[in-house]
Amino acid sequence: MAKPANSISVYYFQYKQRSSQRGIVGRLSETEIFNLLPRVIAAATPEIYPPGSILWHSGELTPQEMENCRWMTFLTQVDKLEWTEGRDWPVDELAATTNTLRQDYDAFQAFLETAMHQTIFSLDKDWVSTIAPQVFDYQSPARQSPYLIRAMINLSYDGDAIGCVLDPMGGYGQTLFECVLRGIDGATLEISPTASQRSAENLRKLLQRLQIPFEESQAGNCHLFVTQGTTQNRYQIVNGDTRKADEYLPNQQFDSLMTDFPYGVRAGSRTDKLVPTDYDRLLDAALPSWKRLLKPHGTIVMAYNLYTLPRETVRALIRRHGFRQRFAAVDLSGWISDKIHRDIVAFEKMTLPS
Ligand SMILES: C[S@@+](CC[C@H](N)C(=O)[O-])C[C@H]1O[C@@H](n2cnc3c(N)ncnc32)[C@H](O)[C@@H]1O
Repeated sequence: MAKPANSISVYYFQYKQRSSQRGIVGRLSETEIFNLLPRVIAAATPEIYPPGSILWHSGELTPQEMENCRWMTFLTQVDKLEWTEGRDWPVDELAATTNTLRQDYDAFQAFLETAMHQTIFSLDKDWVSTIAPQVFDYQSPARQSPYLIRAMINLSYDGDAIGCVLDPMGGYGQTLFECVLRGIDGATLEISPTASQRSAENLRKLLQRLQIPFEESQAGNCHLFVTQGTTQNRYQIVNGDTRKADEYLPNQQFDSLMTDFPYGVRAGSRTDKLVPTDYDRLLDAALPSWKRLLKPHGTIVMAYNLYTLPRETVRALIRRHGFRQRFAAVDLSGWISDKIHRDIVAFEKMTLPS
């Protein structure tokens, strides 16, 4: 790769830090770093880049590669670092330097401190200030992390375009925010009439803030927004019970279902009391209906609380209802509080050969 005579440039991909683990600077071999980056980026999965990874790449990136980076799971920011010293960087020395940096987290940090720093793109700042829950006036059932929703949508597909998403336990509608920002169709189903109503208010506010023209209508328990810009996107907010989800959304199928399953923690409670639950029965009852709403090989991505729903129970239910787990070897869990140890599971609809 051609480089300015006396400088080294590095792209530094930051991931949302989900573990306290230090010292990981990518998991790529030298060959991958220098030759295979486009393919590596295109194939990025949590197996290659486990949550908490920090990955860096020396050399230039094409606009297409930059675009591909955006789809990497949990990616939050890409920085370009320029490090210039009054001498040339022979390729073998560069290789040795990259190797040291990758193996030694402290050396990498020192490199960051001495380098010139330029953020190429950040998925965070504008995005968070646009859709962060605090911008909207909802507090309950819980403030949802936009990072979580984005990561879950990222996990639900392989990099090809995603068409439409359903959140079958949609709460106050954070999933729809992400759909709006991605310009894809979205729907939520939510049992609480208040949350459904607030969801519609939140969505209206977001479209107005983004100055996206839209038409709004209501029929029965379904609130529909259709955008009127260059593309027409549909956003449905349906009030109903997820166990009968397909009855509320007749003749519809989605590329992906993603949801933040109830955690069993009393919202707003100072003591964070756990609510007695039978979430295994709820999930068991919902899965057949969710499956009918999925296109063949469509994916469900679900966040849930390991303290109220054991991982083995979730896995057994997935298998029993004819799904195949994706990223099964990867631990996507993260400790949130004394009462929430959140796990994320992704599973794919299996279709029988005809
Ligand atoms: C963790 S919250 C989801 C929050 C959501 N991601 C948001 O942006 O606000 C779980 C939601 O599931 C809803 N829920 C619980 N049981 C349900 C059911 N049987 N059918 C539909 N929604 C249900 C709850 O009312 C709650 O809003």
